[in-house]
Amino acid sequence: MNKRIFLSAPHMSGNELKYIEKVFESNYIAPLGEYVNKFEDSIKDYTSCENALAVTSGTAAIHLALRVLGIGAGDDVLASTFTFIGSVNAILYQGANPVFIDSDKESWNLSPILLNKYLCECEKKPKALVITHLYGQCAEIEKIVDICRLHGVYLIEDAAESLGAIYKGKHTGTFGDFGIYSFNGNKILTTSGGGMLVSSNKDWIEKAKFYSTQAKEPFIHYEHLEYGYNYRMSNVLAAIGVGQMEVIEDRVLKKREIFEWYKEFLSDIEEITFMPELENSRGNRWLTALTFEKADYNKVMKALEEVNVESRPLWKPMHMQKLFENSKSYLDGTSEELFKKGLCVASSTTMTKDDVKMICEVIKKVL
Ligand SMILES: Cc1ncc(COP(=O)(O)O)c(C=O)c1O
Repeated sequence: MNKRIFLSAPHMSGNELKYIEKVFESNYIAPLGEYVNKFEDSIKDYTSCENALAVTSGTAAIHLALRVLGIGAGDDVLASTFTFIGSVNAILYQGANPVFIDSDKESWNLSPILLNKYLCECEKKPKALVITHLYGQCAEIEKIVDICRLHGVYLIEDAAESLGAIYKGKHTGTFGDFGIYSFNGNKILTTSGGGMLVSSNKDWIEKAKFYSTQAKEPFIHYEHLEYGYNYRMSNVLAAIGVGQMEVIEDRVLKKREIFEWYKEFLSDIEEITFMPELENSRGNRWLTALTFEKADYNKVMKALEEVNVESRPLWKPMHMQKLFENSKSYLDGTSEELFKKGLCVASSTTMTKDDVKMICEVIKKVL
């Protein structure tokens, strides 16, 4: 049996262990230390965001953003329905109510038309929107920023999957009031687990730092007026992040190359449609995502599993989850259709063109 090909396996640059050794030499194992600052600086340099805070996960970063924005019990918060639950769990942590908006066909991401319609019609104005740039592909972010500004809704960009994705020359995560990135094990970069909160508002990032370190008031003894969290990233994990950031552009280019290989080998199959890319944008193609017009993707998954290759259905929309059966949603059927027909295929940056060719041959045999 061939070695398993994963959807998106960790891919070290080679320098991570060296940096971890430096952390050990300094004995700043935890909680903070120079690599946390270095990792934050590398994200700032790469994305041109002004302020960054390294935390334990992307979910923690979203939670901090909502807390700093004062979103609490009973508030409505809009969210992409076509996303991973990590995008919306923090809305529940704050006791707020998620309201799900459907995708459009042009981007597979949240539809600006539906968003605007909902905001014009709704009786209760939502406080914020958490929008996902799905599978590393850009949402119609400029239009969405304008709509949020018009209606006085805070914007949190969930760029967990889209580090390195650029819309009109600007990185995803840097358009909204806050942006977040994830360094979970399967992301384009990984620290084994981790996240980053970014914002152009320095005071907000300072406040988020305060909450992420147990909300300690500035006294020598421990004084508390508010509750906080233990969400700060450790120096050891940040050292991995620094090593990973040295190869971020290589990883984006490789992910995009893998996507092009899939297109090349499957171009003659009419029933396959690939996730689109908006004009004036460069997604990171974190996972190559496609739909089958007629074929049952379960059969494709099974055939791939038989040759030890991982694949996964597209995210099941949040409004279809039992957990959210009582939540409001504003839909036109797009995400349900995508979920019915779609699959993510293996997109690990360690893959070769021959790996992709083999996967495509297996897919073609099933069709
Ligand atoms: C779209 C999206 N949002 C949020 C998250 C949560 O990130 P984390 O796993 O770092 O908490 C993830 C990934 O895990 C994700 O894919």
